[in-house]
Amino acid sequence: MPTFPETTKGLVRRWNRRARLYDRLTAPMERMLGLVRGRAWVFERVAKGRVLEVGAGTGKNLPYYPERAFVVASDLSPGMLARAVEKARDRSRAVRFVVTDAEDLAFRDGAFDTVLATCVFCTVPDPVRGLREARRVLKDGGEVILLEHMRPQGFLGRLFDLLDPMASRLMGPHINRRTLDNIRRAGLVVVEERTVFSDWIKVIVAR
Ligand SMILES: C[S@@+](CC[C@H](N)C(=O)[O-])C[C@H]1O[C@@H](n2cnc3c(N)ncnc32)[C@H](O)[C@@H]1O
Repeated sequence: MPTFPETTKGLVRRWNRRARLYDRLTAPMERMLGLVRGRAWVFERVAKGRVLEVGAGTGKNLPYYPERAFVVASDLSPGMLARAVEKARDRSRAVRFVVTDAEDLAFRDGAFDTVLATCVFCTVPDPVRGLREARRVLKDGGEVILLEHMRPQGFLGRLFDLLDPMASRLMGPHINRRTLDNIRRAGLVVVEERTVFSDWIKVIVAR
């Protein structure tokens, strides 16, 4: 059971509705905000082994996976994941697709060498619980790798706090998540942080 069941139900509906247009609507941001570079950085760390992607969405990361990885792409929204399945058909390598909530991952403890997520923990209703789940399904010595936007420091952070209730109602994702704190609260240790766009978008590696 999710921490906030009604919010989670609403998110499934919202992301299912958005699935068809998601790639087109987000294309301008990919370059403007450096997300393309951020995705490439995430995959510098993923060479092989069992990889779980949480919130894989429409499969934007599929082209980046190395040949030697066994990939499980998961998402809460069947509509988003259906787009990823279509994309994977054009590629030779096998990917397993699983509809599951980040807050309650349908995998056994220690099942993966790497758990990764890109632009997901801004949306998961209980991000600390989701990050704890990422830690649970990670093998000893494995890594959680995230590309996330988060609350910036200073004036901009205070502005984002002010705008967040409206922004999240309109768009879904929260713009003021304290993701580094959330990672630590989930019991993970940050081992690397790379700035993608100001202090607002980062690639974070945690163990
Ligand atoms: C902004 S999109 C990012 C999609 C993809 N990772 C990317 O980089 O384009 C957020 C994704 O997170 C998924 N999501 C939101 N809440 C989730 C949850 N609780 N568990 C799993 N996936 C979730 C949404 O369905 C959506 O596909």
